Amino acid sequence: MAVEILPTGAALGAEIRGLDLRRGLDPDSIEVVKQTWRDHLVLLIRDQDISDADLVRFSRYFGEPRLAPLGEARMKGRSRSPEGYPEVAIISNVTKDGIPIGSLGNGEAIWHTDMSYLEEPIMGAILYALEVPPSGGDTGFANMYLAYETLPDELRSKLEDSVCVHDHSLNSAGFLRRGYEEVTDVTQTPGARHPLFRTHPETGRHALFLGRRRNAYVPGLPVEESDALLDAVWAHATQSAFTWHHRWQVGDLLIWDNRAVLHRRDAFDNDDRRVMHRTQIEGDRPYYKRA
Ligand code: OGA
Ligand code: MN
Repeated sequence: MAVEILPTGAALGAEIRGLDLRRGLDPDSIEVVKQTWRDHLVLLIRDQDISDADLVRFSRYFGEPRLAPLGEARMKGRSRSPEGYPEVAIISNVTKDGIPIGSLGNGEAIWHTDMSYLEEPIMGAILYALEVPPSGGDTGFANMYLAYETLPDELRSKLEDSVCVHDHSLNSAGFLRRGYEEVTDVTQTPGARHPLFRTHPETGRHALFLGRRRNAYVPGLPVEESDALLDAVWAHATQSAFTWHHRWQVGDLLIWDNRAVLHRRDAFDNDDRRVMHRTQIEGDRPYYKRA
C-alpha cells in the first residue's frame, strides 16, 4: 500500500494518506504508521468511514485497548460506550433523555495528559470524529520532547530529580470526579506521583511529563515554591511554538502519543453536536533515565 506522509510543518503532527481503515492493514503499512507516529507524535488520517470494530482493530496495532474510563457510569447502567464496545469511549456534548451520551461536554478542556493521575497512564489515544460543530472544538497538541530539549538550565536543574503529583480529583473538563472532594491544599492532592522528566520507552528520547496543572504539586517544596516552579515550566511547555491545533472534519482520526504530548480542546457552542469515538491504549509506569 502506497502511503503519503505530510508533516504539518508545525512542531508536531503529520497527516498520513492512502489508508482505508475499514480493512486490516498489512504488516509493512502498520510499521510505517507506527514509525510515523513515533516521529511526529500525532497522526491525522482523514476521510475514514469506520465502525467501532474497525476502530478497535486499528487500535490493537498500537497495543492493548484499555476499557473506557467510566466504570461508575457503566455500573449505574449509563454506559458512555457504544453497545458491545466497552473499550470505546464516547466524547460528546450530546444528551439523550437528559443524560449525556459521552464525556467532556462542550467546554474548554485545558492542557493535559490522559489518565496520568494513575500509576500507569495510557500510552496513547485515538479519537475519531462522527459529528463535528461548524466552529470551535479544535484539538491542540504540544510537543514535550521539544519542551524538554529547550528547557532553560535553571528549570532543568530544579526539575531533574523531582516528581509531581497528578491530580485525580478533577477530570479534563474540570469537573469533580465522583467520590472526590475539592482540593484546598495541594500537599494533599490525590493522584499518582511521576517524575517530571520521562524517558520514552520506544524512542529513548526524553520528554517533559506534566499531566495537568490544576492541583499539581512537587512534594518536598513549600507550596509557593512549587506553584512558581510549575507555573514557569507550564508557560515554557505550552508556548505556541511547540503546538499544533487540528480543525476537525467528519471522518478524521487522530492518534496521539500520550507519553510525549500535552493536548487540549477549544470550547464550542452547546447547540451544536460533537460526537467522537475514542480508544485508549494500555501504557507503562513512567520512568526517567538520566540523559
Ligand atoms: C480526550 C480529549 C479532546 C477532544 O479524549 O482525552 O481530551 O478534542 N479529547 O475531544
Ligand atoms: Mn484528553
